[in-house]
Amino acid sequence: MSGIIVVGSQWGDEGKGKVVDVFSAQADYVVRYQGGANAGHTLVVNGVKTVLHLVPSGILHSKTVCVIAAGVVLDIEEVVSEIRALREAGLIANSEQLRISDQCTVLLSHHRKLDQAREKAAGHEKIGTTGRGIGPAYEDRASRQAILFGDLFDQTTLKDKLKASIVETNFLLKEYYKTEPVELEELYKRLLELTEELAPYRAKDASMLVHKALKGGKKVLFEGAQGTMLDLLHGSYPFVTSSSTISGSACIGSGIGPNSVQKIIGITKAYTTRVGSGPFPTEIHGPLGERIRIEGHEFGATTGRPRRCGWLDLVAMKYAIRVNGITNLALMKLDVLSGHEKIEVCTSYKLDGQEIKDMPTSTADLVRVEPVYRALTGWNDDITQVRSIQDLPQAARDYIQFIGNELATPIDVVSVGPGREQTLWIKPLFN
Ligand code: IMP
Repeated sequence: MSGIIVVGSQWGDEGKGKVVDVFSAQADYVVRYQGGANAGHTLVVNGVKTVLHLVPSGILHSKTVCVIAAGVVLDIEEVVSEIRALREAGLIANSEQLRISDQCTVLLSHHRKLDQAREKAAGHEKIGTTGRGIGPAYEDRASRQAILFGDLFDQTTLKDKLKASIVETNFLLKEYYKTEPVELEELYKRLLELTEELAPYRAKDASMLVHKALKGGKKVLFEGAQGTMLDLLHGSYPFVTSSSTISGSACIGSGIGPNSVQKIIGITKAYTTRVGSGPFPTEIHGPLGERIRIEGHEFGATTGRPRRCGWLDLVAMKYAIRVNGITNLALMKLDVLSGHEKIEVCTSYKLDGQEIKDMPTSTADLVRVEPVYRALTGWNDDITQVRSIQDLPQAARDYIQFIGNELATPIDVVSVGPGREQTLWIKPLFN
């Protein structure tokens, strides 16, 4: 089987969008399987920047079929505006390029309102969500009140379903958070307009579409959003997102069996970032953290928030490799580390005076750990123009080798800039 999963191995923003865009040149299908418009995948092609939140990053290759699978919470307003922008840019010429599952959960304005109202009320205790309504939309799915994408096309039942779906949220908005509820008629009217625009992209059974592609020997990439440490079950709970972000979610979210997967590629930055609240053992405070933020353009693609920056954390990486079953790694943004005299890498933690090599399961413990660093020699040269691994400065090659050895996982790809051409291949993607 020819399925490859691309998964974030840190706290999100590892550069999955670029990897999927580059890999898509060799893929027939790209499937987005979880999350929603909280993701922001930035792509730079010929110097032109495109930010996608819902449409899979494979869309920039006209022959690649992009699928939004059942596990995604589909923000209807956002997906329509992305489709419009892509059409205007000539990047979606025909609707067969984008297929949306009937089983996606529809995300509407009341989800966004509830997310924002909760965060505001939580004050200092807030999660630091993107405010895109992700939690409330997944809650509706779990409590069986959600509107599914397929429901939009049955107008005899849609209004009743919508009414039932918004009643509890409206009560909370009005009575508990003392904010404006959503208006049924207005929402219904808007939904009908948007549905008309989305009709050409309806896949109905997207699981079948992906199954047939895999069975027919097509090359299928599964595009993860967010990162391992934001996983609802295996991340630093409660400072996580509301979906499962690890590789197993690719199977659940798209409706395929695990035996369809050939490779699991963990995307990692050459350092670490995190947006929002929650523990981050290798965070660097002060001017050095600020320098990485500026040089790495570490500002959220969805919210514009400054990202917290720190050194590479191999304890967290080992954890990610284990829970995802990562078989290969892609090391991103190596160029951002140019110009540092020394580069630190966290190889273990200290907890209550004891050295530990495994990630603690308790978030309270993770808050208390102290990173133990190994200092490596840095390099001064600008490496953004380098086009092969052999041409990297020796210290950069040593850094790559050190990470690969410590993690006992091959690094297949190294990225030295946002452009497609700034991708150094060590091993081919598909066997
Ligand atoms: P939510 O997914 O909007 O509910 O946010 C929950 C947590 O996940 C917050 O800490 C967000 O900053 C974080 N988060 C959500 N999506 C992303 C992403 O795409 N990249 C990085 N962090 C994210």
